[in-house]
Formats: sequence, structure tokens, C-alpha cells
Amino acid sequence: MKTMRNNCGTLRDYWYVAGLEKDVTYKDPLTTIIMETRLVIWSKSDGTLVAMRDRCSHRNALLSRGSIKDDCIKCPYHGWTYNSSGDCVNVPSEGPDGKSFENRGVEVFHVTPRYGLIWVWMGKEEPDKQPFPMPKIKDKGWRTYYMETEFDNEVTHLCENFMDVPHTVFVHEGWFRKRKRIEVKSTVERTEDSVLVNYISNDAIGFTERVLNPKNLPMVHTDKFYMPNNTRVDYIWGNDEHGFVITSTTVPVTPTTSKVYTLISYKFGVLNHVFKLFLPWYTRSVIKQDVDIMQNQGLAFSEEAPDFKHTPADTLHIFIESLRSWKQNGEIGPKPKPRVRQVDFWI
Ligand code: FES
Ligand SMILES: [Fe+2]
Repeated sequence: MKTMRNNCGTLRDYWYVAGLEKDVTYKDPLTTIIMETRLVIWSKSDGTLVAMRDRCSHRNALLSRGSIKDDCIKCPYHGWTYNSSGDCVNVPSEGPDGKSFENRGVEVFHVTPRYGLIWVWMGKEEPDKQPFPMPKIKDKGWRTYYMETEFDNEVTHLCENFMDVPHTVFVHEGWFRKRKRIEVKSTVERTEDSVLVNYISNDAIGFTERVLNPKNLPMVHTDKFYMPNNTRVDYIWGNDEHGFVITSTTVPVTPTTSKVYTLISYKFGVLNHVFKLFLPWYTRSVIKQDVDIMQNQGLAFSEEAPDFKHTPADTLHIFIESLRSWKQNGEIGPKPKPRVRQVDFWI
């Protein structure tokens, strides 16, 4: 079967998130699916992580339901046992002597914990990049937490949604941004591996702007996409006095479903303790609204392939899609050129 992983050109040559670091403990493996490839992540006794296909090479049972002992994982079906290199080191039906069993191993993946997340390299070759830097995790005055969310839609449309401003006054009306019937000016730049949006005119967010910005400081808003699946939305008030940053890394699970790890970073000075109580509920509510609208769009795609009409406000989507499609198609044909556009739209 041709899985997404074997059918996505060079989009596989990146680190993708398999889960939260805290969710893997010794003897307690984690199972996840990235690009239709089921993986098991487990920890050796020294804390080193192991990522391998969650599929026994014998009769393909899930190894994640097995047991971990002596830095090996044992299949629950007939007891085949694999070491952390994926080699099969014991087949009980062939005797107790621990022979070496060539060609019976399972595939292992490069895996690294970083920023509280577990990253797996899905590429064929050795890693030639670093995991995406999740921001503000240890920065002074900032607090952070992760949210895990499943979406019935695919990566390009989710990245677009996470950066799309016009939907906020409809999908999140009264929650995130109020409709003011004003024109917003922005620049949208495509680089080799990113799409960068700078908003030039006045903007404000928050279910009440006074809560997010009690001192009425000027706000700088930027939206950024980084290949192949990361978005970062920054709202910074004053001279870095207050801040609210939403960073999302979107994991392709199947062609129509994804899992998103969202890092919420905030800095509200003395109000941090208030936001600690309020923000998880608020951000969960707002993401639920996106889950619903993304499911809505995904349902439409399940009947017919996308056929979009664009406005200037959709420039960022066109740019994201162009970068991802070029990789998806194996980097054949001309590479999307760097470009900057002035984009004005109404919210
Ligand atoms: S399926 Fe795993 S040992 Fe048989
Ligand atoms: Fe949204």
C-alpha cells in the first residue's frame, strides 16, 4: 500500500511531532500515526527515546500493546522481541537461545525530545535540519502550555486557517476579534521556506480588548508560516511589555486528518496568574470553533476536490500552497520564487 509517507515527495524530509514528552515514561509507550505510518515511541532505562514502526514483522500486531523489558520491546502476540535498533533478538517459537534473526527487524526512526515535544524524522536520509523552534518556552516573564487537537482536514488548509484573519470576525465573532468594517493593510512575503505576514495598520484582539491590553499599548501583529507545517502568530504590545504568541505544528495523520500541537505563550506581567486560570479555557473554546469550521470545509472536500476563488486576503494561502505543492511533487519544475505583495482587506 502506498502510504502518505511514500507519496509526499520531499515533505517527509522534516521532523514531525509524535507527542508530548511527558506522555512517554519508562514501560509506558506512546503510539501515534504520522503520514499513515503507525509509530511506537518508548523509552530505554537511561531515558533515551526509541521510535519504531508500531507493527511486528511477524504477523503485524501492534508492538505498543506489548511490554518493555531490558531495553527491548516484546510483541504481545507470539513474543517476538526487538531491541532499540529494531533488530529482532528473540523468537520464542524457535527456541530460547537468543539467536540473531536477520530480516525480521522493524524500521526505526530518528527521534529527539525538544521543547517538551517528541520529534520524529520521517525522511529517508539522515536528518539535515533541526526541529522547528517552539518560541518563548524559557523566556523571562513568559508562560507556556501545549494543546493537542485533532482536526478533520489537511495541513495546508489548517496552516491557512491558523493565519487567516478575515474568518476571525465570523467564526470567532465576539471571542477573538470584533468586526469593525475597517481596512487592514499588510505585506505578505514568500521566501524559500516561509510565508511572512506583517500587519501595518491598527488591529486589536481579545473577547474584550481591555482584558488583553489593559494599558492600551500599541500592538504589533505578525503571522508566519514555516515549511512544511508550522505557523506562528505573534501579538506583541508596547516594547515587548506584553505578548501573546500562538505557535502550531500540524502533523499529517491521513490525507484528510491531522493532529495539531499548539503552544500558547503569554506574557501579561502581574496579570500572568489571572491568565493562567482563564487562558486554557479561552484558547480551548476558540480552537473548538476552528475544529468545527475545518471539519465543515473537510466535508466539502470529501465530495469534490478544492476549487477556490481567491481574493487578495487569500495570498498567504496561495503562497503556502505553492511551497508545499512543490515539495509534495518531489521538487520537480520551477521552485516558487521569493515575492512580496501588498495586501489590503476588510474585517
Ligand atoms: S505478531 Fe508479533 S510475535 Fe507474532
Ligand atoms: Fe480561527
